[in-house]
Amino acid sequence: MTAPPRPRGLVVDKDEARGREMTAFLDERVGVDATLVRDGEAAYNVLDTETVHVLITDLRAQRIDGMRLLEIARARNSEVAVVIIASEVELEVATEAMRRGAYDVQTRPLNFERLQAVLERAISHQRLVVEVSDLQARLDHRYGIQYLTGMSPQMISVYDRIRQLASTRTTILVTGETGTGKELVAKSIHHLSPRRNEPFVALNCSALAEGVVESELFGHERGAFTGAVAERKGRFEIADGGTLFLDEISEVSPAVQVKLLRVIQERELERVGGTGTIRVDVRLICATNRDLGALVREGRFREDLYYRLNVASIHLPPLRERKSDIPILVDEFIEQFNDENRKRIKGVTRGAMELLMQYDWPGNVRELRNLIEGMVVFGHDGEPLDVGDLPNHLRAQPSESRDLGLRVGMTMEEIEKRAIEETLKATGYDKQRTAQILGIGLRTLYRKMKQYQGP
Ligand SMILES: Nc1ncnc2c1ncn2[C@@H]1O[C@H](COP(=O)(O)OP(=O)(O)OP(=O)(O)O)[C@@H](O)[C@H]1O
Ligand SMILES: [Mg+2]
Repeated sequence: MTAPPRPRGLVVDKDEARGREMTAFLDERVGVDATLVRDGEAAYNVLDTETVHVLITDLRAQRIDGMRLLEIARARNSEVAVVIIASEVELEVATEAMRRGAYDVQTRPLNFERLQAVLERAISHQRLVVEVSDLQARLDHRYGIQYLTGMSPQMISVYDRIRQLASTRTTILVTGETGTGKELVAKSIHHLSPRRNEPFVALNCSALAEGVVESELFGHERGAFTGAVAERKGRFEIADGGTLFLDEISEVSPAVQVKLLRVIQERELERVGGTGTIRVDVRLICATNRDLGALVREGRFREDLYYRLNVASIHLPPLRERKSDIPILVDEFIEQFNDENRKRIKGVTRGAMELLMQYDWPGNVRELRNLIEGMVVFGHDGEPLDVGDLPNHLRAQPSESRDLGLRVGMTMEEIEKRAIEETLKATGYDKQRTAQILGIGLRTLYRKMKQYQGP
């Protein structure tokens, strides 16, 4: 791999000797190619003509002040690292600068050690953002999965699975908690399959009364029941040649289960009140947020149907188990709702992102998406979403003080297992951080996780 290009820097200082010292520091210690300008107006011209990754400016830069430069720089490049140099008495303004997305505020004499650390962190973050968006673009290209966002290892294996199964005719069962994207997976499969130009038809089995589901699925003849004034095609017939997606499949009645089994096995059906059989060629994808296997054991779902539906399965992990996807999803949703609402929200502040990362997301991606929609609609154009824009239940999260649930009588092994499990949950299954917090090596963590997973 070739070395990444050096980041571009901009230093605003009316004192030329001091400014040169700064550009030399950036060049030698941080690896940044920096330009020195005397005032805010000259800085503005540079910001307007090239991409700047690092901006170092006096709060009281002449003509255009540091605060305004911060705003302009962030509008041009939302990832820019801005360091503001203020005097002791201006610290209140400095806090405001941090709130508006400055990376650091320093007073003279400067602490070059800290400056170096801050800039290095910012630059490695910038590289990561670029890599992530590159990778996402490549993934989209490779998988044609434009609907789904996220690049956690869990999502990558979901994409692999979609890819593998798309070209087949196999019935697929998609499982996962509410809001994890089960319907999107079904659509992606359809769009990658040879059936992509045929219909994709969806039906949520829990949204309709029991009797209605049957006629919705299989259609009915005229006069089949009171109100059936005309014959009507069911979803299976409408989806002929394409894909039928049945959401909340656990909710269908025993009578419908029998009929479903028949269509899957014989590829034919009878309309309600009809006598003739109708042949259909439909690829069936079902989804459930319940444990269908358990319903089978309880005798509430037909075992033979379960095996037919579950020929292949795709499991979507809850968002709290793949928190590394949160920043990408947030960006994606902000962009989407900016477009829809003609708004110009500029990302989120680091503080807000921290809270978004801490939260557990019981409603998964749907909850995140709805939340961002609301915040974009009420947010201020040209500004990032901040902690104050978040709803109360996100702001008032109990900080990492989770109860381990220890009690007298537990073995050391049980205690260790509990500590590992809870720390994993608290870090969003970030193994590196978990190992750090527990003070053990990553390898040890893996070994113990394996050991505790049981046979
Ligand atoms: N990986 C993802 N990338 C982008 N958007 C997503 C993703 N997963 C879910 N969403 C969005 O979240 C919302 C819920 O997704 P979807 O309807 O597919 O969930 P579901 O698993 O079918 O939920 P339910 O069990 O409640 O029916 C949709 O608006 C969808 O666009
Ligand atoms: Mg759904």
